[in-house]
Amino acid sequence: MRVRVLGSAAGGGLPQWNCACEVCTAARSGAFEDQPGDASGQGGGTGHRTQDCLAISGDGTAWYLVNASPDIRTQILATPELTPGPARRQSPLRGALLTSAELDHTLGLASLREATDFTVYARATVLRALPVRGVIDPYGGVRWAAIECPTIALDGGLTVETVPLGHKRPRYAATAPDAADWVVAYRFTDRRTGGVLVYAPCLAAWTPLLAGAVAGADCVLLDGSFFTDDEMVEQTGAGPTALAMGHLPIRDSLAHRPAHPSTRWLYTHLNNTNPALVESSPQRKLLRHANADLAADGLTLTL
Ligand code: MLT
Ligand code: MN
Ligand code: ZN
Repeated sequence: MRVRVLGSAAGGGLPQWNCACEVCTAARSGAFEDQPGDASGQGGGTGHRTQDCLAISGDGTAWYLVNASPDIRTQILATPELTPGPARRQSPLRGALLTSAELDHTLGLASLREATDFTVYARATVLRALPVRGVIDPYGGVRWAAIECPTIALDGGLTVETVPLGHKRPRYAATAPDAADWVVAYRFTDRRTGGVLVYAPCLAAWTPLLAGAVAGADCVLLDGSFFTDDEMVEQTGAGPTALAMGHLPIRDSLAHRPAHPSTRWLYTHLNNTNPALVESSPQRKLLRHANADLAADGLTLTL
């Protein structure tokens, strides 16, 4: 399977448009050099990170998005594998799978309304809540498929297992019914190579279900929103803790890293408060010491 990290930042991106914190200011000034950029050199070396999104393919021909970030148009244009053709309105993108109903994971669907043949897969809990669904339905090109089985097959040789992760609802859906699958992870298996990727950009706790999914994976992309639980409070003087926001801090999930020595261990959905974003920080060093790292926009994985 081929995987492209289209975006690696949490909601707001890096830098966030209205934020003058140290990390956003450094990113704005181009002080970071650790972003590899994509094959065409775009996105590299600036410190800018777009919002969490992934593209994945079993055969390099049929591609799927995982989540649809508000940055999706720029992300697609920066990814040579997603170039349309040869027919006039033919895209390699067959669909998208959603890990949550959060705005940073779903607003990009509005930018995909020109699609002619595109399926959005998500749990019924998420599909029912999405305001963008009613907005783009009249444009006609997007189909909605509720994921009901634990495992589904995608075009191009990928099998996807859905791992329910938690009850965290978007703020706009605060009155919607409680459910255990507002947030999910996906475990992708390439039926030809046997390669396995686990994608869990929003992760409230290290549950037995998640532990089972991570076991035997070649690579995991995990929630890296915050490095520590009190990061937001420390930096802004207010605000909820990471755990209260449904995000397990890196320091906690990293404790599980030694049990999976042969798994590549990367963090994504990075919030602009996360000190590990700074290449020279002790937190980034600690990550690397644990044989883990941050994902980057444009990163390619072959599994
Ligand atoms: C989250 O990951 O906690 C949400 O996406 C927050 C947001 O609304 O940006
Ligand atoms: Mn988010
Ligand atoms: Zn900031």
